[in-house]
Amino acid sequence: MTVFAFAQQQEPAQALATELGTACSIVECHRFPDGESCIQIEPELIADSCVVYASLVQPDNITLPLFFLAHTLRDYGVQHITLVAPYLAYMRQDKIFKSGQGVTARYYARLLSSCFDKLVTVDPHLHRIHDLADIYSIETKLVRAAPAVSNWLKANVSSPVIIGPDSESAQWVKKLAKNSGAPFLVLEKTRRGDRDVEVIVPQVEKWTDCTPVLFDDIISTGKTMIETIKHLLAAGLSAPVCIGIHAVFADAAWQQIKQAGAARVVTCNTIPHASNCIDLSQVLAINI
Ligand code: R5P
Repeated sequence: MTVFAFAQQQEPAQALATELGTACSIVECHRFPDGESCIQIEPELIADSCVVYASLVQPDNITLPLFFLAHTLRDYGVQHITLVAPYLAYMRQDKIFKSGQGVTARYYARLLSSCFDKLVTVDPHLHRIHDLADIYSIETKLVRAAPAVSNWLKANVSSPVIIGPDSESAQWVKKLAKNSGAPFLVLEKTRRGDRDVEVIVPQVEKWTDCTPVLFDDIISTGKTMIETIKHLLAAGLSAPVCIGIHAVFADAAWQQIKQAGAARVVTCNTIPHASNCIDLSQVLAINI
């Protein structure tokens, strides 16, 4: 069962292949001068079943090559293709926010479901859509990061209090708090625009002896983390450790969070990034 991946994601794909005890094959993606692309696989590594590893960050760039890859594999006789997408894109577009928009989470799910037989992903942003099966017509497997994050927490942070920045984060925060035996609280957030969020922090003075640990599924612009850090520092808490499962980090978000006063910014390796400290290759392999 070869693992196929594009060159940019060779490292995590290779780590997964090593866990599975199989080969990792890098897919050639040639860009023509007109901007079109051409996929080339190693046909001698084809089997009845195979895995495609593609974390779907910057999804508009990767999705068409991924679509071509799935169809090329079919044309070379592959019967069953599992897509391992540790970061699943478009899950936040789960309703019509403004008249005239579409629910792109559904359209994206329809596209991937037409290409693959199974999807394995890590903590997708399930909010108004409660189950991947509501939008994906293929088999789906959801891997949780919380056990690995709590192991990291136990080894690296003393007296943590886990803080979720908004109601959506409650699902991840509760699991992490339970696994780590730590107290938790969930804040309120209002998003007014892509880079404009307001976070309301309740009385937190009783936690001044603890290490605040902000935990969220996605860090994108970083504004959610930055606003929360400001409030916690103003309330007299110590510099927080910020943990995100998915290191999306739009623009200079990573540096901006550190400048805002984070003690550390740590992520899982669902998207390759210098902040990756928590390895999920093993738990992904178990779920394929
Ligand atoms: C949305 O509710 C997610 O759980 C995250 O809180 C959000 O994606 C973070 O985005 P940003 O880093 O742009 O504030």
